[in-house]
Amino acid sequence: MSYQHEYDKWKNSPEAFWLEQAEKLDWYKTPQQATIQNENEQTIWFPDGELNSCHLALDQHVKKGRGNQLALVYDSPLAGKIESYTFQSLLAQTAKVAGMLREQGVCKGDTVIIYMPMIPQTVMVMLACARIGAIHSVVFGGFAPPELASRIDDAKPKLIVTASCGIEVSRTIEYVPLVEEALDLAHHQPDSCIVFQRSHMPAKLRHELFQDWSDLINHAASIECVPLKSQDPLYILYTSGTTGKPKGVVRDNGGHATALNYSMETVYDTNVGDVFWSASDVGWVVGHSYIVYGPLMRGAATILYEGKPIKTPDAGAFWRVIEAHKVNVLFSAPTAFRAIRREDPSADCIAKYDISSLKRIFAAGERLDPATQHWMNESIGVDVIDNWWQTETGWPICSNMVGVELLPIKYGSAAKPVPGFDVQILNNHGQELPAGQQGNIAIKLPLPPSCLTTIWGDYGRFKQAYLDQFSGYYFSGDGGYFDEDGYLFVMGRVDDVINVAGHRLSTGDLEEVIAKHPSVAECAVVAVNDELKGELPIGFVVLSSKQEESLLVEQLRQRVREEIGAIACYQKTYIVPSLPKTRSGKILRKILKAIINQHSYSYPATIEDPNALLEIESIFKRDRK
Ligand code: COA
Ligand code: AMP
Repeated sequence: MSYQHEYDKWKNSPEAFWLEQAEKLDWYKTPQQATIQNENEQTIWFPDGELNSCHLALDQHVKKGRGNQLALVYDSPLAGKIESYTFQSLLAQTAKVAGMLREQGVCKGDTVIIYMPMIPQTVMVMLACARIGAIHSVVFGGFAPPELASRIDDAKPKLIVTASCGIEVSRTIEYVPLVEEALDLAHHQPDSCIVFQRSHMPAKLRHELFQDWSDLINHAASIECVPLKSQDPLYILYTSGTTGKPKGVVRDNGGHATALNYSMETVYDTNVGDVFWSASDVGWVVGHSYIVYGPLMRGAATILYEGKPIKTPDAGAFWRVIEAHKVNVLFSAPTAFRAIRREDPSADCIAKYDISSLKRIFAAGERLDPATQHWMNESIGVDVIDNWWQTETGWPICSNMVGVELLPIKYGSAAKPVPGFDVQILNNHGQELPAGQQGNIAIKLPLPPSCLTTIWGDYGRFKQAYLDQFSGYYFSGDGGYFDEDGYLFVMGRVDDVINVAGHRLSTGDLEEVIAKHPSVAECAVVAVNDELKGELPIGFVVLSSKQEESLLVEQLRQRVREEIGAIACYQKTYIVPSLPKTRSGKILRKILKAIINQHSYSYPATIEDPNALLEIESIFKRDRK
């Protein structure tokens, strides 16, 4: 079958196309209807269908005789552990975790925040929530207490599940004090917090809300799956927007399962019994879709890797895991491969391992630069496939669909739109642009299954953030162009979102933290290009009171670590006399970005004070010397 045939099949009959895909799943009640629109004109997928995502991930495989097949391998160079779970054993433990949640009073429709590291219990809690119809919201373990607190206040969880610690290369992070601090900051309080004690560093539980996992799990009953409507929410995943307040992307059950199963088959070419490794974190969308739900629903084994591409212990870490667990498909962020290349440019570490099981590598989360892609192709000897998507979609918008047809690979391009996505390049007036012209990347409505239908508790914000810019389209926030062959080149965000090592951050969020410092009158944060992490945030600060420069720079660095997290990698601040603004007072961030990235720019006619720019240019030039 050809890619074009597959895409046209969807385009010509979208509803029949998606019903056919939905039928491949083990529903309790198979849907007869693809979509309806609700009163907000939101698309509801498979409105008459009933299913359970945990059943699809675990129970169905046991029912079909695959109980003894490998489902999950936990490989942690940081904890010095490797553990394997079959579908049967993962199901048995998940069913008990579901019982434990139920005994804490968690019911269908309740929210549960999961603030945990990359351990099997995290996957069990996610699937246990799905099992009883509770809505999980995983918060990445690298986020600091104020970020956790804002998610607690927004999601209003009945329960928080955490672990005693996370393990990083150079330090152990105690989670319990972080959760306690977040609870002090939050207005909403959960009924209780369950703590999974890791032998690496158990926690002392002093807070009245905290309970020890091991005290509860032994008495817990095993709970069966609850049938859910297709449109019932499965999870909320917070992502950065242009403002400081994170957006809670809401994912349904039926659309999500249908799209993931379709993508596992057609994009990732993965089938029952394959070994799929997404080297990401369950705190990000890649982790939700392609560590937990996608591979398990497909009947493939998933690798849960608690380690880094380098330093655990060296640049051979990925190749060791591939050999040890006979990985067929690897998925990670380009930053990971840039880090490996930097440590091992001649790929000597690869030669030490037998990676013959590996069929393909997929990269997403940020732009895959052609130099890295080229190095990967040459050194690893398998096709490297770039795919472009977002937390909001939950699965690839554009990719080379290798499970359908391997198209010629073009470096720097995420290839072609996946069926379901009518991708268009628009100018700022919303007019479609022809091939070769760069503009805003938008998706013609309606969106396919699995895409967000709202922001948790705030449909108005969903409309305003994604639908209001261009009538009839979803706006991705990215800019780029199609070439003459229909390949999409994503060139980066056109809004104030930045991407640090595949982690999406809001400059607005960083600015809020910096602006709270008593010596800061005004600030702007923009991204500077970085060879390893893609982008890094840089601050421009106008002082409100005299302050020793190096001390302030260090204080701001520390504040960002404490209020957002070390993952923001905020280091550098420039103290400037004023910020360049338009006459209406808008900070010219694009120009600041051009200056620090040494790109050319033209003075806008609307600039309030051209001297502000000249001053910044000279400060920046001095710093470069
Ligand atoms: N919990 C707590 N802290 C965390 C964390 C977590 N889960 N993950 C990262 N951090 C901390 C790190 O300890 C580090 O802190 P430090 O400044 O005290 O050293 C900081 O956040 C930055 O971490 P990281 O981005 O991992 O930087 P690094 O320099 O240690 O490692 C790479 C560089 C390239 C190895 C790493 O960025 C990487 O593996 N990138 C792949 C990205 C990825 O998988 N993205 C997923 C999206 S698809
Ligand atoms: P997230 O929602 O955290 O997955 O981040 C999504 C954003 O990451 C997108 O809007 C892009 O800016 C960027 N991104 C993801 N994948 C790619 C890719 N393959 N090429 C370029 N940018 C990407």
